[in-house]
Amino acid sequence: MAKAKEPYFDDGANVTSQTRANFSGKLGYVLATAGSAVGLGNIWRFPYLAAKHGGGVFLLMYLIIAVTFGYTMMMSENALGRMTRKSPVGAFRAFSKSKLAGCGGWLNAIIPMLIMPYYSVIGGWVVKYLYEFTRGNVKATAQDSFFTGFISDDASAELWFIIFALMVVVVIFAGVENGVERISKIMMPLLVLLALIVAVYSMTRPGAIEGIKYFLIPDFKNFTWMSVVAALGQSFYSLSIAMGILVTYGSYMKKDVDIEKATGQVILFDSGIAIMAGLMIIPAVFAFSGGDPNALNAGPSLMFITIPKVFASMGLGRWAGFIFFLLVLFAALTSAISLAETSTSTFQDELGWSRRRSTLAVTLIMFGLGTLSSLGYSSLSFVKIFGMQILDFFDFATNSVMMPIAAFALCMLVTRCVGVKRIADEVKLSSKFRMEKMYSLVVRYIAPIFVIIILLSSLGFIG
Ligand code: PFF
Repeated sequence: MAKAKEPYFDDGANVTSQTRANFSGKLGYVLATAGSAVGLGNIWRFPYLAAKHGGGVFLLMYLIIAVTFGYTMMMSENALGRMTRKSPVGAFRAFSKSKLAGCGGWLNAIIPMLIMPYYSVIGGWVVKYLYEFTRGNVKATAQDSFFTGFISDDASAELWFIIFALMVVVVIFAGVENGVERISKIMMPLLVLLALIVAVYSMTRPGAIEGIKYFLIPDFKNFTWMSVVAALGQSFYSLSIAMGILVTYGSYMKKDVDIEKATGQVILFDSGIAIMAGLMIIPAVFAFSGGDPNALNAGPSLMFITIPKVFASMGLGRWAGFIFFLLVLFAALTSAISLAETSTSTFQDELGWSRRRSTLAVTLIMFGLGTLSSLGYSSLSFVKIFGMQILDFFDFATNSVMMPIAAFALCMLVTRCVGVKRIADEVKLSSKFRMEKMYSLVVRYIAPIFVIIILLSSLGFIG
C-alpha cells in the first residue's frame, strides 16, 4: 500500500521509491487503464457522435486520430508518471519549479475531482435502469416521462447516486492492487463478453443491416470538417487523456512493463469497445426508427430514453436491456474508480496524507459535489451556471475548457522542460521505442495545434 513519505525528487533523475503502490504487472496495468478508458464515453457518446458526423467516415477519422494523437498523449502521460512515480502535481513539479508548471500540474489533478462526482450521478442512473430491467419493468422505462420523472425526484436520484458512489469508494479503500486492479481483472473480460452478446443481438434484428453499413462503410460524401473536430474531442474523452489518470496509473507501472505495447493494447481495447457499442446501438436504433440517424439523439436521452424504447419493442428485450445496462455499469464503474484513484493519489502525494485519510477526503468531495449535481435536476433546478444545469456545467467546465488547457500544459512540459529525449529514454528502459519519430513529431507540433482546435471548437469559435 502506498505511503506518503517518499522523497520528492527534483530533477527527474532520482526515481527510487520502495513504498509506492504498484500494479502487479502488465496485465494489471492494461486492464486497469482500459477500465478507465472504456466508459460512458464509449457507450453513449461514441455511437451518437458517429451517427451525427457521417457514420463510417467518423469511425475512420477517429481511428486515425486515436493511434496518432491519442497514442502520443497517452505515451507522454504514462512515461511521465513512471519516470517520476508521482501523480500529476508532483510529476509537473519534478521538471519545473515555475508557477505556470505548478498550475499545469494542479489543473491535471483537479479535473478528476470535478468529473468524478457528476460521472457517478450518471452511474447512479445506470444502476437504477439495471434494477428496473432486472425486475422486468421494461414497459415503464420505455415511457417518455420515465427518465425525467426519475431524475427530478430528489430522494430517488440521490439514493441511486449513493449506491454507485459507495461501490467506487469501497474499491478505493481496498487499494491499488487489491481494489483497482482486482476489480478491473474481473470486470473487463466480462464486459467484452456482454458487449459481444448485445452487439450480435442488435445486428441480427430485422432492418439492422442499413445501420451496420452506415456505421462501418466510410462514404466520403459525408465528410465534414466537424467530423475531424468531433473525432478529436472524442479521442480525448475516450482515452482518459488530460485528467491526471494516465500519469497516476503510469506511476504505478513497474519499470519492466513495455509502455508502448501496453499503450497500444489499451487503445485497441478502447476502440474495440467503441466499435462494438456502435454495433449495439446504431443498427438497433436504425431498425427501430426505420433508418433515421436523427433518432440517435445526443446526450443522456440516447441511453436513458431511446435505448429502453428500442429494447421494449424487441423480442428478448428485457434480457438484452439487462445485459446492456450491466455492461454499461461495469464500464462506468471502472472509469469512476480511476477518477477517484487519481484524486486519492494526489492527496497522498501532495498533502502527505495516509491512504485512508485521502480516501475519506475523496468520499466527501464525491458526496458533496455529486449531491449538488444530482439535485440540480430537482430541488436545485433553479440554479443555473452560465445558463447550464449543475451537472452540465461541471461537464462543460472540465471537458470543454479545462482538459484542452491541461493537455496543452502537458505538451509544453514534455517539449520545453522534460525533453522528448528523456521521455524516449524512459520508454527504452523496457523496450524499443518503435514509434519514436512519429511521437516526436506529434508531441512537438501536431498535438498542441489539435488541443487548441478542440478548445476553440468547444468554446464555439469553430463549427
Ligand atoms: N474515458 C472514460 C469514458 O470514456 O467514459 C472516462 C471519462 C472520460 C471520464 C471523460 C470522464 C470524462 F470527462
